[in-house]
Amino acid sequence: LTNVLLEERSKIPINTPNPCGQPSQKTEMAVPPAYADLGKSAKDIFNKGYGFGLVKLDVKTKSANGVEFKTSGSSNIDTTKVNANLETKYKWDEYGLTFTEKWNTDNTLGTEITVEDQITKGLKLAFDTTFSPNTGKKSGKVKTAYKREFLNVGCDVDFDFAGPTIHAAGVLGYEGWLAGYQMTFDSAKSKMTRNNFAIGYKTGDFQLHTNVNDGSEFGGSVYQKVNGNLETAVNLAWTAGNNSTRFGIAAKYQLDSSASISAKVNNSSLVGVGYTQTLRPGVKLTLSALVDGKSFNSGGHKLGLGLELEA
Ligand SMILES: *[C@@H]1O[C@H](CO)[C@@H](O)[C@H](O)[C@H]1NC(C)=O
Ligand SMILES: *[C@@H]1O[C@H](CO)[C@@H](O)[C@H](O)[C@H]1NC(C)=O
Ligand SMILES: *[C@@H]1O[C@H](CO)[C@@H](O)[C@H](O)[C@H]1NC(C)=O
Ligand SMILES: *[C@@H]1O[C@H](CO)[C@@H](O)[C@H](O)[C@H]1NC(C)=O
Repeated sequence: LTNVLLEERSKIPINTPNPCGQPSQKTEMAVPPAYADLGKSAKDIFNKGYGFGLVKLDVKTKSANGVEFKTSGSSNIDTTKVNANLETKYKWDEYGLTFTEKWNTDNTLGTEITVEDQITKGLKLAFDTTFSPNTGKKSGKVKTAYKREFLNVGCDVDFDFAGPTIHAAGVLGYEGWLAGYQMTFDSAKSKMTRNNFAIGYKTGDFQLHTNVNDGSEFGGSVYQKVNGNLETAVNLAWTAGNNSTRFGIAAKYQLDSSASISAKVNNSSLVGVGYTQTLRPGVKLTLSALVDGKSFNSGGHKLGLGLELEA
């Protein structure tokens, strides 16, 4: 009997650790992204590396005892309005706890406490409160998220005077295919205020995402990593009962290890270009410009400048 058992045991594949210590493609794919992160790669190609009409400074530092500070300030070139926010974060790894304090120039104070992977692996609980001393407005949220192989679900409850609003979302994933559903229920109105579906397909260098929001807004995006340097994205959107389709294409090209350029254009003939350069470790400069192709000579173009410092 021992021999038989030993023989059977030898048939079980041994989980050999990956020599690079990095999760292999398979294991990474197994846990699907949260609903809000579906199509994120394409969104990032459209949104990152630009800051039209803004002069922006971001500073990230970390103290010796592990407290992270993040300050960000921006000035709108047209309106000269200045916005700033400050965030401090403290992680207590031993208990999977993270404390985050936020403040911004609109005078909103925010506190978030999250607990991750404690009760069960993959379960995240967050308590989020904001307070505005000027208006006396308070808000509170309880967020839960659970992820494991093939599944990523979340439920947030937003406490309000009138009654809580419930946001729930779930994504199932199998062999690169993703299907998701998201809804919002407003208990004050006893009404479903959001009803979204999404289907996607994801491999390492290709991602397809389609969604239908409230049965009337259709959207789709394709992301492709063409090679090590070039990433492209296409985005389409259409509203039922309206024959105007909105679309855009975007690309990001890594020039070398420290510089990248990005460009995008959409059907309104708005062309955006961006250039990001790491000047030295921890110092990143972003220049961007938005050109209105329809009225090239009459102006209305926008420039942007951003500096990110990290120590
Ligand atoms: C169609 O588009 C116009 C302008 O973009 C918008 O005002 C209108 O509400 C849209 N109609 C529907 C049914 O969404
Ligand atoms: C769609 O657009 C065309 C031209 O822009 C217009 O002639 C037509 O009436 C529109 N159809 C609908 C259903 O809105
Ligand atoms: C392009 O986008 C605009 C919205 O900015 C929309 O109203 C228009 O119908 C779109 N044009 C085409 C040709 O799809
Ligand atoms: C076109 O692109 C510009 C800049 O990227 C953006 O502000 C604008 O909303 C886009 N328009 C449409 C219809 O997508």
